[in-house]
Amino acid sequence: MREKTDTVTIRELDENDAFAIMQIEPSIYGDHHWSKQTFVNELTNEKSFYFGAFDKESQVLLAYTGFWLIVGEAHITTLAVHPDHRRKSIGERLLINTIIKARELGAEWLTLEVRESNEAAKGLYFKYGFSALGLRKRYYQDNGENALVLWTDKISEESFQNIFNARVAELGLEPV
Ligand SMILES: CC(C)(COP(=O)(O)OP(=O)(O)OC[C@H]1O[C@@H](n2cnc3c(N)ncnc32)[C@H](O)[C@@H]1OP(=O)(O)O)[C@@H](O)C(=O)NCCC(=O)NCCS
Repeated sequence: MREKTDTVTIRELDENDAFAIMQIEPSIYGDHHWSKQTFVNELTNEKSFYFGAFDKESQVLLAYTGFWLIVGEAHITTLAVHPDHRRKSIGERLLINTIIKARELGAEWLTLEVRESNEAAKGLYFKYGFSALGLRKRYYQDNGENALVLWTDKISEESFQNIFNARVAELGLEPV
């Protein structure tokens, strides 16, 4: 049985959260992690929107994500869950939050790049109706791996809404 996910609260992040992000980021991306300054830049950019999932009791940051709003497109820049807190639907909750915020901000599509080998992330995005519409060859400088470019259908369309609402209901969350 899956662990319940109502142990986290999600809120928008600001530059004061960069330190907490840096407690997680290097453990995921090793030598290729973003620097604290990169996050400060992202968290103060008016076209960027970052959100974190916090443990309800301790208020410790467990996961974070962000996107850029670029003419009708919400481009997901990062989504990371602390290695000790995976497979508890926290990544999924953050993705749901991103989709809702992107819709509120007028985005028509969501997009992102993902490593071809990243089965966990692909599984999450495919579950929400993203599909691979492009390939950026040798996109990742650390190992020359290809990136898949994932896109949603128009998020206002019924086909996307139906998938989204079904997944939200499966998690026991209120319809949005
Ligand atoms: C990808 C990541 C964000 C998933 O977060 P998570 O909280 O562990 O995932 P969830 O528990 O919300 O799982 C949601 C869905 O994702 C997929 N998934 C998650 N982990 C998976 C794994 N190890 N293998 C295959 N599918 C996986 C499944 O479809 C899952 O749905 P299910 O539980 O119904 O099978 C997390 O593994 C992570 O932080 N990875 C390192 C950073 C990264 O690769 N980010 C993505 C960059 S594009």
